Amino acid sequence: MKKVLLLIITLTLIAFYFSSISAEKPGQAFRADYDGLAMTPPMGWYPWNTFGQEPQNEKLIKEMVEALISSGMREAGYLYVGPDEGICYYRASDGKLTTNLERYPSGLRGLGDYIHQRGLKYALYTDAGTLTCSKAMPGTKGHEFEDMRQFAEWRTDYLKIDWCNTKGQDIVQTYTLLNEAQRAAGRPLVHSLCSWGVGEPWKWAAAVGHLWRTTGDICEPGKADWNSAMKIVFANEKLYEYAGPGHWNDPDMMIVGMPGLSEAQNRSLFSLWCMMAAPLIAGNDLRQMSESTRQILTNIEVIAIDQDPLGIQGHIIRQEGQISIWGQKKLFDGSQAVLIFNQNNSPSQVTISWDELGFSRAASLYVRDLWKHQTTGPITRGLSVTVPPNDVIMLRLSRSKDFPLPPIISADTYLISLHSKSSKPEKLSASLTIHNAGKVDLPLWKVHGPLPPWLFVKITKKGNNQIITNQINTAGLSPGYYHTIVRLDNTEPISKRPMSAFYYEVELEVK
Ligand code: GLA
Repeated sequence: MKKVLLLIITLTLIAFYFSSISAEKPGQAFRADYDGLAMTPPMGWYPWNTFGQEPQNEKLIKEMVEALISSGMREAGYLYVGPDEGICYYRASDGKLTTNLERYPSGLRGLGDYIHQRGLKYALYTDAGTLTCSKAMPGTKGHEFEDMRQFAEWRTDYLKIDWCNTKGQDIVQTYTLLNEAQRAAGRPLVHSLCSWGVGEPWKWAAAVGHLWRTTGDICEPGKADWNSAMKIVFANEKLYEYAGPGHWNDPDMMIVGMPGLSEAQNRSLFSLWCMMAAPLIAGNDLRQMSESTRQILTNIEVIAIDQDPLGIQGHIIRQEGQISIWGQKKLFDGSQAVLIFNQNNSPSQVTISWDELGFSRAASLYVRDLWKHQTTGPITRGLSVTVPPNDVIMLRLSRSKDFPLPPIISADTYLISLHSKSSKPEKLSASLTIHNAGKVDLPLWKVHGPLPPWLFVKITKKGNNQIITNQINTAGLSPGYYHTIVRLDNTEPISKRPMSAFYYEVELEVK
């Protein structure tokens, strides 16, 4: 009798456990659960908003790579870079996607290697239909598996897949097939869906991708458009429940720093993107950006709101005429971000109270101004601020005086390339450094899964950095080329959210 009772209790507990899990994510699958990619919104640079397709070529992309590094954007987390619809490949008569060597003389694989060696990740573009949007490049329709193999061979880390020329195609089936083709190609990559909201991807795309465009294009190439950006902001805001680690609403690449926008507008746009946990894909010409734009795009305290490991998309909690107050953006350390956006052409005084933000009125809170980099407080009940015209005030509120930055990761390279010098067994070694611009001390990264027998990876700490040493023994290897992708994992120590997996590659040529 006792045993039966015990069995009933155990079964009830098991049933309760599983029902409570499924209550959290009812029937939802997440692609990021297996590849660990984009656990915070992807960051990078893409050419379309400024350049359109004509001036795109290898030289332009390489200049942007250098600008990402020299401006400090790489260290601030901007990682993915590459051509959009830059007429970079065509379909050859044998059916294979083939580099347009006139524009990209190193080949698309050569450009990828260059980007990886500079500590950045490689982004490419395609379309789910028969042709890309301007019809200048082939789409993947009917070639899904071979094209995804080609993108893997080019060592793509991020693939934007557009939705032009898809007449008669079912959107869910198409993007699901492309996801299967990507998995079959064996290379982990961030899948960015680009159907501009068609097919309501926020309802199903987390299973097959990591981010999806929610709206139409933010501007025509070269023509930054504030009004269009505002329409996008308020449409994307409504979808806040659908975003989270590994699955993001994408209000399009940013226009921050493009000609025609004021400093206040740039600051407002960047704050809004970060408040919405949106992908931060810069779209301005990085080679000639002003110091003010550089400072906006690299404001690490604001980036930290976007890159917070909880991955919550903030939203409007109160709107009064042209003033919106954005909140409900809880952060990993128990603090919260608040944004006050004034769309009036005159300064506006705004009062916010702690209880409307979910704190108790009596809470004694420190207030950090994320643009002025100043802390005040502790304050109870709430506060009043004056917001300049078409500008924002962005605050972080906390019970503690500390405002720790979450991990923001960059690396000096993603490609370790080694060659043996003689046919005798040799021991080779090369390291890469993972840098953390945040303030949270990370545990050591851990190798995920088995490594090939010729490779041993040792991970050590040096201050806030971690050194990944790759030791290679060529004993027993026949002459030839060897290649592997190494995956490292980490669990962010405070929120217990896993961080995005860190992937890099090791290649070895044995004489
Ligand atoms: C679509 C996309 C844009 C850009 C262009 C390229 O319009 O939404 O972001 O990629 O195609 O033609």
